[in-house]
Amino acid sequence: MPLLKLLHFAALLCWCGALLYLPALVAAAGDENSQYRVDRAWMARQLFIVFATPAALVAIGTGTALFLRDGIVAPWLVLKLVAVAGMTICHIGCGGLILRIERHLELDQPPAGIWLSVTTGILSAVFIGATLWLVLAKPGV
Ligand code: HEM
Repeated sequence: MPLLKLLHFAALLCWCGALLYLPALVAAAGDENSQYRVDRAWMARQLFIVFATPAALVAIGTGTALFLRDGIVAPWLVLKLVAVAGMTICHIGCGGLILRIERHLELDQPPAGIWLSVTTGILSAVFIGATLWLVLAKPGV
């Protein structure tokens, strides 16, 4: 397998995994009955900064390089970019969730429900699924 595509796969596996895990971790950090809330919030911040964001940048960078190298112009690629934009918005949403839970912990207030984490997790899964389907089925080629 060509190195560029291998790098694309490796990076997107890391990014997708982190996007699915981060909302669950933030939700767990909001569990008032747990003594690990601060540790989980710290872990979520580290995972976001050290792992998820670099993986997202490499996935998008290698994807762009593949597209420029092979000169692919197809409807599925345009739709895939829309789905990737959705994943990027979920990524930014995870950052927002981390800031929100940290603020709640600093002020020692209970977090305002987990529905935002659940919604972010579900939307991430939907956009990841759509991206994978578009690139693997290549509809309209
Ligand atoms: C800006 C972001 C991205 C761009 C520009 C991009 C572009 C590309 C291009 C041009 C290919 C080669 C397609 C081919 O050779 O037929 C490719 C392959 C692939 N991409 Fe991406 N990609 C991006 C992000 C992603 C993401 C986030 C995912 C997964 C969630 C993903 C999943 C895949 C898969 C599974 C393949 C292999 C398809 C195959 O070999 O048939 N890509 N990508």
